[in-house]
Amino acid sequence: MTVGPRSLRPSALFPPEVLQEIHRAANEGVYAIRGFGAKRALPHFDDLLFLGASMSRYPLEGYRERCDTNVALGTRFAKRPIELKTPITFAGMSFGALGTHAKEALGRAATALGTTTTTGDGGMTDEERRASKTLVYQVLPSRYGLNPDDLRRCDAIEVVVGQGAKPGGGGVLLGQKVTERVAGMRTLPVGIDQRSASRHPDWTGPDDLTIKIEELREITDWEKPIYVKVGASRPKYDIPLAVKAGADVIVLDGMQGGTAATQDVFIEHVGIPTLAALREAVDALQELDMHRKVQLIISGGIRTGADVAKALALGADAVAIGTAALVALGCNKTAYLEDYRALGTEPGYCHHCHTGRCPVGVTTQDPTLEARLNPEQGARWLKNYVTVMTLEAQTIARANGKSHVLNLEPEDLVALTVEAAAMARVPLAGTDWIPGRSGRRDG
Ligand SMILES: Cc1cc2nc3c(=O)[nH]c(=O)nc-3n(C[C@H](O)[C@H](O)[C@H](O)COP(=O)(O)O)c2cc1C
Ligand code: SF4
Repeated sequence: MTVGPRSLRPSALFPPEVLQEIHRAANEGVYAIRGFGAKRALPHFDDLLFLGASMSRYPLEGYRERCDTNVALGTRFAKRPIELKTPITFAGMSFGALGTHAKEALGRAATALGTTTTTGDGGMTDEERRASKTLVYQVLPSRYGLNPDDLRRCDAIEVVVGQGAKPGGGGVLLGQKVTERVAGMRTLPVGIDQRSASRHPDWTGPDDLTIKIEELREITDWEKPIYVKVGASRPKYDIPLAVKAGADVIVLDGMQGGTAATQDVFIEHVGIPTLAALREAVDALQELDMHRKVQLIISGGIRTGADVAKALALGADAVAIGTAALVALGCNKTAYLEDYRALGTEPGYCHHCHTGRCPVGVTTQDPTLEARLNPEQGARWLKNYVTVMTLEAQTIARANGKSHVLNLEPEDLVALTVEAAAMARVPLAGTDWIPGRSGRRDG
């Protein structure tokens, strides 16, 4: 028998990582839990391109002509809508998943940028409230850390129905991250694994949610915008239900959305890509004549100003970032190599937020590790990063002849793949073809 290179040919069905996972499952008998977002390749904003201006369109001049980036959220019912200077916000990330330094850095950066940051499962910390000029407070299915005083201390309320990393599922906080402070805020025992509920006990359908939202408005004197956050699953049906329930703002979190800890099978196999979800949601809002009246924040895999500009062009009013913000704080940075190796990983591959052993001090409650992240330095990194993204989105808007980033439109985009063309409903580059649609581009 000849043994040549073909003897090292991997199986497409059973590549090394699948074999490894079967061996792990066979040994341990438990499913894999991890942080970060989906690692598989999915259709995304990278599969779209802007056309830019040329003969038939005029670009705006960067140094002389304005291109605004401000956005108002919550203009439907709230007496005090949120005014953002950039369409980029920070997504809800729990205290427990993140340490206090990371939460404080997010708050400081949001304040410096004129945007918002958001609490998460586990409640509001004093550090983040002090650091954040404008803070969105999450009301979650778990009710962990829910405190009526904090409803009054916040600037907007986000009712979380689900997340893109796990639509239909709840998160996990492993015991090693449940310190006395984390446990105290959640009124749960120290050091014990905590599972967040998949479904809120107070609402089992849209009518219950309507009542809940009314209750929140009464408590806050109709001042604060109420957001509803949903994981991208069936936006065509979920968005109208959120509108009917009385949302001022809808946060739609696509399948690429990050998480601190959940089952790998959820992260990789449940939900629909952000790109597909966004266009479906915008269509639903337009059908109800609610587009731009109920604002739409999209999240799940936003990393660059190009992603932001494409999301806005497809009809979002703003974006939220989670993972990318943590990366700006140092996640996966080349440092503390021994600590990455002790987790069985390397910088660039880490998804070990669930362990509480974050080498760069972002997703940890360990004081020694947390000391590696200085909140002031972290805030400067975040501010620089979001400033760059905002400038990138603005540059693209100008190149497409737009005096406001929200004036970007599907008309400015083409797709590189048939899949992205069908999902975003923009033509395949160089053609007038939108798969599933007859005739020319439909804007
Ligand atoms: C460390 C971490 C903790 C999170 N905690 C929460 C949470 O408490 N509540 C929530 O609604 N979403 C939570 N999320 C999801 C984010 O709010 C957001 O939906 C997601 O991160 C957006 O996708 P991106 O990470 O690709 O930007 C968390 C995400 C991360 C990365
Ligand atoms: S470096 Fe820290 S925040 Fe980043 S994936 Fe690893 S554990 Fe999570």
